[in-house]
Amino acid sequence: MNSVCSLTILSLSFLLFVFITNLSLVFSNDNVEIVVDKNGIPLIPGTSYYISPANTGGRITLGKTVDSDCSFLVLQDDEKMIYGRQVKFSLSVGIIPASLIFTNTALDIEFVYKDSCVESSKWLIFVDNVNNNKSFVGIGGPENYPQGTQILNGKFNIKKSGSENAYKFGFCVKETPSCWDIGRYMSIGEEGGRRLSFNATEDFEAVFAAIAT
Ligand SMILES: *[C@@H]1O[C@H](CO)[C@@H](O)[C@H](O)[C@H]1NC(C)=O
Ligand SMILES: *[C@@H]1O[C@H](CO)[C@@H](O)[C@H](O)[C@H]1NC(C)=O
Repeated sequence: MNSVCSLTILSLSFLLFVFITNLSLVFSNDNVEIVVDKNGIPLIPGTSYYISPANTGGRITLGKTVDSDCSFLVLQDDEKMIYGRQVKFSLSVGIIPASLIFTNTALDIEFVYKDSCVESSKWLIFVDNVNNNKSFVGIGGPENYPQGTQILNGKFNIKKSGSENAYKFGFCVKETPSCWDIGRYMSIGEEGGRRLSFNATEDFEAVFAAIAT
């Protein structure tokens, strides 16, 4: 009984702590806002969402280069009838997982389902030496990329964008002041969609949709 009780108190104070941490995060910076889905409901870390281009529709999916058997490229295509890949967001305040997702704050983005050819379905940025060293969003690890491919160490972020409940993605390289906006890069050959990139040819304004369960 006693241990159950102290456990409850412990979890309650933990929740309170997380709540206060989140609040102070919000109030410490004018640019930090709670990220919401397309219906205006706050995103919940660890919950599944679809990402789609604001205004036009379409989806986020995975594709492969002509040289690969494994889908490791994060692509955006215009398919509206078939759902894309579900993602989840996570954000930590120090070692404490946050209970909401905030703009302009370092976070991780990960596909909910992982194919067996990749070790991880977490989004990353790689420098593509086959495409003029431009930087693109992918998943997996060094084993999925041509030898010598640079994978950037850093974190993604989400910024408020112009349209209602719409956002843009960004990425900050670890331990440097370098942060870049992520846009869309024209389709490459047979990949079947536009890559997401620092070296964008087009903006990428996105909305999030909760998965109906
Ligand atoms: C890409 O980067 C590598 C390593 O920094 C360099 O050796 C190579 O010349 C670059 N390629 C292009 C096309 O800029
Ligand atoms: C890609 O974009 C980054 C960030 O703007 C820039 O530093 C880099 O030089 C660009 N690379 C190419 C090949 O345009």
